[in-house]
Amino acid sequence: MSAVVTDETGTIDTPATSTATSGLREGAFGHAVALSCRECGHRVDLGPFYACPECFGPLEIAYEFPEVTREEIEAGPRNIWRYKALLPVPSDIEQSPNMEPGFTRLLKAENLGRELGITNLWVKDDSTNPTNSFKDRVVACALSAARELDAKVFACPSTGNLANAVAAAGARAGIKTVVFIPSNLEKPKQVNSAIYTENLVAVDGNYDDVNKLASEIAGEEDGWAFVNVNVRPYYAEGSKTLGYEIAEQLGWRLPDQIVIPVASGSQLTKVHKAFQELIKVGLVEDKPYKVYGAQATGCSPVSVAYKAGTDAIRPVKPDTIAKSLAIGNPADGIYVLDICRQTGGAVEDITDDEVREAIVLLARTEGVFTETAGGTTVGVLKKLVETGQLDPSLETVVINTGHGLKTLDAISDQVAPRATIAPTYDAFKATGI
Ligand SMILES: Cc1ncc(COP(=O)(O)O)c(C=O)c1O
Repeated sequence: MSAVVTDETGTIDTPATSTATSGLREGAFGHAVALSCRECGHRVDLGPFYACPECFGPLEIAYEFPEVTREEIEAGPRNIWRYKALLPVPSDIEQSPNMEPGFTRLLKAENLGRELGITNLWVKDDSTNPTNSFKDRVVACALSAARELDAKVFACPSTGNLANAVAAAGARAGIKTVVFIPSNLEKPKQVNSAIYTENLVAVDGNYDDVNKLASEIAGEEDGWAFVNVNVRPYYAEGSKTLGYEIAEQLGWRLPDQIVIPVASGSQLTKVHKAFQELIKVGLVEDKPYKVYGAQATGCSPVSVAYKAGTDAIRPVKPDTIAKSLAIGNPADGIYVLDICRQTGGAVEDITDDEVREAIVLLARTEGVFTETAGGTTVGVLKKLVETGQLDPSLETVVINTGHGLKTLDAISDQVAPRATIAPTYDAFKATGI
């Protein structure tokens, strides 16, 4: 494994090295054929690389897809491996112990839709993944790459959810895990990592500091697979499965509009990539759809650039309760702007108070308890309708990426017992319930 490093945002600070990958077994990365630079198109062999040796642009997986039918996919397991033909994983992926994430519910959200004035609204509820966020999807693909590349340590710098997913997947796979987080992270996210690994390292500093430390370690140590660093191209592909599932669950068609949270922007770009691939391989009909990005105002560099009509994303120091989205220098931000503009969508942001209100709104209307990232996404959806940026008559999907039990502090002042009463019928009647 090469020890080249970036951060959770994918910001590149050293070029890829050219570690030989000749020891790869046949079909180690499924139908992936190369790593291709997103900027200049230059191709390099599959391996632990993430940055283009020509222009330092981000590397992405390039495929030669086989013929895939709806029936084959539908006959597959009820997890992300039903789409294995479209992922950089071997055909025997189900045989290796993993968390089997995905195939989460797509809920018809009639109550929330009524509340927001949207006629046809769906919530893709990814809070029900094994460690309660969409990160289980990306980590499952990274774990496969780490295995194929014979990594000895499975690691990440994280804003929380990623650390949970890496720690759990590593435990199940029997590989040593080391996860790095800022020490001021929400307590439940700390516990949700420490329960799976004895190597949770809390760093006194913000996410950028954690990241720099991870970079240094990766530069010094051999055999470490930092999921969001040197195996990032494989890791990022896991988010495509959100897009595949949404299309399949809608009856093999694409929605008219989709609202997606943005931290590094990777998930949004990959859902779009998934929709494009489904069109390309003929699994869905080509049709226009709009992609919207959601940020919290306290960390909204992409939304600010979108509103200013510029491509120049100015890094910020995050200050928001949406800690899982608190990435001040989003590597894929530029691609988010591109996709949202090209498809006719938008990027919008809301205040922390609006995030809290949206968490309660989703819970009270649909029985779904989301974390601050989901509050941000639902709150942005509301704002997009109110400001006329999203057409409420079109079929809309909003993604809930994480579980509210991980960010209890954010809303513990908003909800409480309505009354504390003596155990008598009279006392109950006095509550007016
Ligand atoms: C719950 C949750 N939702 C959304 C995101 C944003 O993901 P991305 O960095 O792919 O934009 C994160 C990132 O950590 C997250 O934890």
